[in-house]
Amino acid sequence: MKELDGKQIESLIDKAIEIKKNQHKWWNTLDHKTLAMVFQKTSTRTRVSFEVGMTQLGGHAIYLDWRTTQFAMSDIKDESKCLSRYVDIIMARLLKHADLQKMADASEVPVINGLCERYHPCQSLGDLMTIKEHKGKLRGLKVVYLGIGNNVSNTLSLGCTRTGMHFTLCAPEMDPLCIDDELLEEVRKSGLYNEEKDPKKAVEGADVVYTDTWVNMEVFMDPRFEKEKERRMKTFIPYQLNRKLVEGTNALIMHDMPIHRGYEIDEWSIYAPNSIIFDQAENRLHMQKAIMLWLLGKIKL
Ligand code: CP
Repeated sequence: MKELDGKQIESLIDKAIEIKKNQHKWWNTLDHKTLAMVFQKTSTRTRVSFEVGMTQLGGHAIYLDWRTTQFAMSDIKDESKCLSRYVDIIMARLLKHADLQKMADASEVPVINGLCERYHPCQSLGDLMTIKEHKGKLRGLKVVYLGIGNNVSNTLSLGCTRTGMHFTLCAPEMDPLCIDDELLEEVRKSGLYNEEKDPKKAVEGADVVYTDTWVNMEVFMDPRFEKEKERRMKTFIPYQLNRKLVEGTNALIMHDMPIHRGYEIDEWSIYAPNSIIFDQAENRLHMQKAIMLWLLGKIKL
């Protein structure tokens, strides 16, 4: 996503919308192609949308749990290069971006980031697609992100500012794992990015209010993270996306899921009239197809 300018990002979004509208047109486009999906972390949406997407395009997807492959005991460079000799494209959800970079460097086929500690590009592309479907445009819209600054807010801020949207980060702190100074410098310089600590002020005039988990999935149930989890709950509860904050506004409600109701979002907001959370989840499927078709040379941006 970092390599795409705003026009290319919007072109990919338009392709995904077109693919969604004319799904049958793309059946068999990736006939005999294979996607390897390597997961170090859990997933529902990313796994299923990539696998179903590849099937609907006429190809095949293989799910590889890191722990049950030789990735767990061998050098990532060797295993990635080998894997790329069998398949046409790889999607990986790894703990560390540095490992994803090693995989991409060693692979002889394209590697897609299915989330790491710094970025979640496929999510942000699907999110922008969902906003464009609902609003008919991107440029000039205001997106407010509530909660902790993290991998999701990183890529969303980049996608928004590159496509001419305003992005407000309303977060008391950043997850230390996700810091990318270069990305922050770019979004700050865009003139379309600001930080606002007061949620009420932040959501004034918002077209979209977005939130995500305050605790990363790999440690959410980990007893060793319990103390930090409790601290975060206390710190972030004033930043919850809830009925009191958004009822009566025109803002669309977004959450990338999985949801922790009662934490980053309340029950009402999940199913509120303005919630587009499940459209957002569905669009992961259509966007994954567009990404794979682009990387395999079937569509141009
Ligand atoms: N939003 C998202 O990436 O969902 P999963 O963790 O279920 O893949």
